[in-house]
Amino acid sequence: MLADIRSDTVTKPSRAMRQAMADAEVGDDVLDGDPSVRLLEDRIARLLGKEAALFFPTGSMGNLVGVAVHTTPGSEVLVDSNAHIMQGEMAGVATMSSIQFRLVPSSEGRSIMCAEDLRRSIRPVSKHNPLTTLICLENTHNGAGGAVTSISESRMMGAIARDAGIPVHMDGARLWNASAAAGVPIAEFAACADTVMLSLSKGLGCPVGAILVGDASTMDRAHRIRKRVGGGMRQSGVLAAAALHALDVNLDRLSDDHANARLFAGLVEGAAGATVVPPDTNIVMVDLPPSVTASDVAAKAREMGVLISVWTPSRIRAVAHLDVDADIMTQAAAVVRSAIEACAA
Ligand SMILES: Cc1ncc(COP(=O)(O)O)c(C=O)c1O
Repeated sequence: MLADIRSDTVTKPSRAMRQAMADAEVGDDVLDGDPSVRLLEDRIARLLGKEAALFFPTGSMGNLVGVAVHTTPGSEVLVDSNAHIMQGEMAGVATMSSIQFRLVPSSEGRSIMCAEDLRRSIRPVSKHNPLTTLICLENTHNGAGGAVTSISESRMMGAIARDAGIPVHMDGARLWNASAAAGVPIAEFAACADTVMLSLSKGLGCPVGAILVGDASTMDRAHRIRKRVGGGMRQSGVLAAAALHALDVNLDRLSDDHANARLFAGLVEGAAGATVVPPDTNIVMVDLPPSVTASDVAAKAREMGVLISVWTPSRIRAVAHLDVDADIMTQAAAVVRSAIEACAA
């Protein structure tokens, strides 16, 4: 196998990360606390400029609890129509919090909601409509090809929400990438939301983990709800140690992934008429010519040693990550290019 570029979740923990995990000081995090988890939560809370943080096994559970802390049953949550929290988490949020999503349509020609779209979607409180108890943002935006919502747009959305008295939860699974790409400290993005979920198992290369940040009283409620959904983990310091190692070693290299995504995109662009969405970060979406299907291209690329994702019937996705360098991405691009050309022939 030359490369698995289906996702940034496929990375394997490095030897040094495994060593850090083996050496972790641990305790019972459900009883009286695990020292490595405390260290990680304190470090990330400080980095994000929030009062408290809570470690989760997955981003989906972090989002589940992040929504539950703000909402009441029978209310609605405003969300981008292509958001992962609505499209890719098995309706967990709707099931657990008994909310309904109201989808915010994006303006013509845009793939994600902007501040103006959000402003238009906020309606006056009435006895006929469910109360809007939360706004969900996603940055970077997975479905839009790792697109970054800029800090100015994010601030505008935060201000619109504040003026309307509605809290904001940010699905920041890849907010690390947004910060690196924009050259803006991550705390500035986090300041636009009340709670933020960040994945540790994507660009940072941990085997497991996500974190939720917010103010102390909100995170106190989050702690109880995490227990309710079975997220209380005992000697979880072995996992937190991987994340502490990743913050030391892998955080500062995310722009390498972005450069590799751009390299790949440039090499695939135009293959038999395919068009590439220019990547803001580490995700590359390739729209195939009309006669070519994504599943055929993925199967052909697999035969040639490269794994890519089928995103829609006419779109493939490739993601640059820690375990692929510029040389491998160059070779992978040549494979994907010839797979597209072979399918188009
Ligand atoms: C934007 C976004 N949010 C949340 C998640 C969920 O994370 P997890 O797979 O850790 O549950 C993902 C996973 O791909 C994602 O891309």
